[in-house]
Amino acid sequence: MSEQTLSSPAAAEASPQGGSQQFRNEIRRRRTFAIISHPDAGKTTLTEKLLLYSGCVATAGAVRGRKTQRAARSDWMELERERGISITSTVLSFEYEGLLLNLLDTPGHEDFSEDTYRTLTAVDCAVMVLDSVKGIEAQTKKLFAICAQRKIPIITFVNKLDRPGADPLGNLGEIEQVLGIHAVPLNWPIGTGRDFRGVYDLVDKELKLFSPVPQGAVRVPTETAKLDNVSEEQLDPLLLSKLRDEVELLECAGEPFTREAFLEGQITPVFFGSALTNFGIELLLEALHEYAPPPAPRPSDKGMVPADRPDFAGVIFKIQANLDPRHHDCVAFLRVCCGTFTRDMEVSIARTGTRMRVSRSQRLFAQERETMDVAYPGDVLGLTIPGQFRLGDTLCIGEPLQFTGQWQFPPECFATLRCTDTQRRKQFDKGLLQLVEEGAIQLLRDPLAPSQEPILAAVGALQFDVVQFRLESEYRAVTTIHRLPYRMARWVKGSTEDIENLKVPSTGRQLIDEDGLTVVLFDTEGMFQYCKKMNPNVEFFDARPLR
Ligand code: G4P
Repeated sequence: MSEQTLSSPAAAEASPQGGSQQFRNEIRRRRTFAIISHPDAGKTTLTEKLLLYSGCVATAGAVRGRKTQRAARSDWMELERERGISITSTVLSFEYEGLLLNLLDTPGHEDFSEDTYRTLTAVDCAVMVLDSVKGIEAQTKKLFAICAQRKIPIITFVNKLDRPGADPLGNLGEIEQVLGIHAVPLNWPIGTGRDFRGVYDLVDKELKLFSPVPQGAVRVPTETAKLDNVSEEQLDPLLLSKLRDEVELLECAGEPFTREAFLEGQITPVFFGSALTNFGIELLLEALHEYAPPPAPRPSDKGMVPADRPDFAGVIFKIQANLDPRHHDCVAFLRVCCGTFTRDMEVSIARTGTRMRVSRSQRLFAQERETMDVAYPGDVLGLTIPGQFRLGDTLCIGEPLQFTGQWQFPPECFATLRCTDTQRRKQFDKGLLQLVEEGAIQLLRDPLAPSQEPILAAVGALQFDVVQFRLESEYRAVTTIHRLPYRMARWVKGSTEDIENLKVPSTGRQLIDEDGLTVVLFDTEGMFQYCKKMNPNVEFFDARPLR
């Protein structure tokens, strides 16, 4: 079906707010993005500073639960604290210069990359944070690849220019060589390490010289100057002369920046700064304002669906139980893709055709929640309706449609899980079901012995700790875990006969998933290739197809 049909006047009539000017303005002013980075590159600090510079908080440190200061809000948070990592995703919505920015937080630790991958299915743009000294690290590479695959435009923020060893030219070269994307600097650091004094705005051709404030808790005082009009009091002549040379070089050799090329994912604008000292934050925020795209059309089984389709539709990209253990609830995160969501609206789940009234819709701001009565494309809602949703579900009104995309990612770690207390078996089963529904883990079973202990499959091994921790703290089911030597899983598609006669190497293992689909575990890529050769009539997939 064409976009035309999906935005038909009939549909507009069905949802009167749909076609209004106000609706279009709400779409136009939204920017939904995530920050991707390797742990410790400075994502949390940057988030905090974006809130500071947007005027959302008066003092940095008010919102962020810093590793060292996090209050023990729950046992769940305790695990985060113990490990010094961020596990739960939240959504920060803040206004800046007439725009509404929705920042979807993502867990930084690689073992939670599946959560992060899914969150990236719900954004229109990403800010990639690099540590200037460490350059491009493993997790950045993985997350960049996901964004590139989904054609998500990326703004780069090279952080920690205040640290000795920062290397801006090296950073640019590495982005191009390792990530294979053209890097176009839009500002340039004035000095680095202890000499880091500010940034040169390559667009406005203006120096921004900052005076540090303790811990970067408030906005830093900023002086501006032109390259040919800087006094010695403002900037050391040696730093100025170096800056002049660098700017000349960049202006001669650099590729011009165009928003089109950025939106198509061909280039990434690069900003240098320091999240800790607030240097360069304002320019990054301005770039988000100027260049980040409003909610984009989304692929569905009925073709691309534009955000201004009047009828509401949205997709569940993440499910998480007991986000707030005081309520023992289960939150499904929904990204509004088109139309206007209003609380108490009756929607259908496209997968089942089930109709339901959505009355418990919430905005999730850091650890806080508030009821959300209206939401527009680009917004993220937390829905607390237990047991109804699965990952990837589309909720819609009017003509049914199902958004397409990948919500399951290839598992690489496997283990058997056993409940040590048979008295708690029921709770154990219930907890496991919940975790599967959330997409935290996948459950595989031996088709010949389905009552045997299940095999857990996860993208990262730390996910097993979380499973054990949550089963124990939320369901009081103590478990033991035993890691298995497999490194990859492949789902198998073919005729019943071919699957029945599947030849699996002795080091592999044939199992079924919760939907009864056949999956084979392998310990090496070589064994997988060998199995493929032995079974030419079947197809192998590295992730479970959407249910
Ligand atoms: P993450 O969310 O990406 O994991 O990184 P986070 O912001 O927590 O930052 C990791 C460490 O790097 C923190 O130090 C933070 O203060 C420091 N940092 C962030 N941005 C900058 C910067 O621009 N310059 C410098 N020099 N350091 C920066 P920490 O000691 O590990 O934690 P904390 O006690 O400061 O919270």
